[in-house]
Amino acid sequence: MPAKRTARVYRPTSANMARLAKVLAQGGLVAAPTETVYGLAADALNAKACRAIFRAKGRPASDPLIVHVGSLAQAETIAEFSECAREVAKTFWPGPLTLVLPKKSRVPSIVTSGLPSVAVRMPAHQLFRDLIRRSGCPLAAPSANPFGYVSPTTAEHVLTGLGTRIEYILDGGPAKIGVESTILDLRDPCRPALLRPGFISIKAIGAVLGQGVIAYRRKVRPRHAAIAPGMLEHHYSPRTPLILVKKLTRQSMGRISTDEALLFLKKPEGLSGKNIFWLTEDGRLEQAAHRLFKMLRQLDDGHWGKIHAELITGNASLALAVNDRLTRAAAVLPL
Ligand code: TXA
Ligand code: MG
Repeated sequence: MPAKRTARVYRPTSANMARLAKVLAQGGLVAAPTETVYGLAADALNAKACRAIFRAKGRPASDPLIVHVGSLAQAETIAEFSECAREVAKTFWPGPLTLVLPKKSRVPSIVTSGLPSVAVRMPAHQLFRDLIRRSGCPLAAPSANPFGYVSPTTAEHVLTGLGTRIEYILDGGPAKIGVESTILDLRDPCRPALLRPGFISIKAIGAVLGQGVIAYRRKVRPRHAAIAPGMLEHHYSPRTPLILVKKLTRQSMGRISTDEALLFLKKPEGLSGKNIFWLTEDGRLEQAAHRLFKMLRQLDDGHWGKIHAELITGNASLALAVNDRLTRAAAVLPL
């Protein structure tokens, strides 16, 4: 028998916001929108509540959570800020940037998977900020999807993935950015390193720091995995096999059967067919990022034999972010 749906979707009325904030303050879970993707939130200082996040997602305890704060002062109660970290936070917060910093002892070890560091971010989304303010808690929140599946960018996505495992979903419409935050390792202010590409570029961060940021290496090495244990290659996988191509040529397309889908960044000129899809009309990267996860879900539900996706060229931050999420989705690893 299929599991019973337990979740209810709440509109952001003042009464509902007060109710959901109370659920959080009392140790419950609430899925809520941020500007990047929807998160599954709980009081970050309540170990039992955070354990429930791992259970609901089916997430291994070795994959630490991001803690969301409403102010720099609140961030400083959970993490040690160097002068540089403060500068970066003041420049990019509220916004889609997560900083990995030495943790303070009040953060339960379940949140950081036992690491001596904690990932912190101040989100820009008004509703999420309102939940932090009203609940009075810093909120631990991973993306609100079952572990290993595509991140949710709408309340409907959360309902589909976690509808039988949680009770409260706040609907704030589609997430604006659509890919998860940039993660910057600032544990050592002299060696800033990118752990996950996102909307905010290492060029912009480097300009504030006055030094270069160590670029992200997609190949996850064991040493790297110990720093970011959640950076598993198959993190975003749809169920349909996804194949990445640098460039889809007419010749290579000729070999692809019509029950396999083709995904382009930009509407391809002179090509048509039921199996042709694109992220944008004109190649705008903001739009590509905004639509990526929705498109992967749509294709995954479309009963295609395979999905062939063309990688985005160039070094723009969102091009790297989209390629990174596609690459993780395409990695076939034993479960
Ligand atoms: O945009 C986002 O960042 C969204 C929204 C909800 O804020 N959150 C999100 O969380 O993407 P999640 O759990 O799906 O990804 C967080 C990643 C994990 O994969 C983990 O590896 C990394 O952050 N992380 C967390 N704590 C860390 C730490 N102490 N050191 C290194 N990486 C850490
Ligand atoms: Mg995630």
